Amino acid sequence: MKSYLLITTALLASAASHLIAAGDPPVDFVKQIKPILAGRCVECHNSETLLGELNLQSRELAFRKRSAGPVIVPKEPEKSMLYLVLTLPPKDKKAMPATGHRIPKDEVNTMRQWIAEGANWPDGKDGAVAAARKKP
Ligand code: HEC
Repeated sequence: MKSYLLITTALLASAASHLIAAGDPPVDFVKQIKPILAGRCVECHNSETLLGELNLQSRELAFRKRSAGPVIVPKEPEKSMLYLVLTLPPKDKKAMPATGHRIPKDEVNTMRQWIAEGANWPDGKDGAVAAARKKP
């Protein structure tokens, strides 16, 4: 009897440590992350406007060496500026996006989960992020 309790406790603890509800499907880059980057980030983080020395148009570019260090540390959202900047208070000069309304909390959590799962960012067309066209 006691051992069941121990196993249950261990399972609960490991689920909590991941902060991911059991059964949550993995984050889909194309459906869930790309629209955030395309709609709110790439306008300032592209090959021409390389603000913060950061280009978010592809995996390869996003992982390029920067003097301020990497922005994505796969499996470690708490060390990933790409996630942390979304959680900073709006007054902070590093809070992102630098202009406009904040990213909704559920999308911030999706970003966190995506990095925790290993920041799977496909190559090629699926992984290529073009700025979303602004509505006229
Ligand atoms: C209006 C322009 C603009 C937009 C939109 C924008 N950024 Fe930035 N971003 C900047 C500037 C400017 C910096 C450099 C800030 C600094 O280092 O003080 C920066 C820096 C960063 C950094 C690097 C921080 C560091 O410590 O080196 C990250 C990560 C980042 N942005 C992520 C994002 C994400 C994610 C989005 C979309 C949700 C976004 N940005 C949208 C202008 C923008």
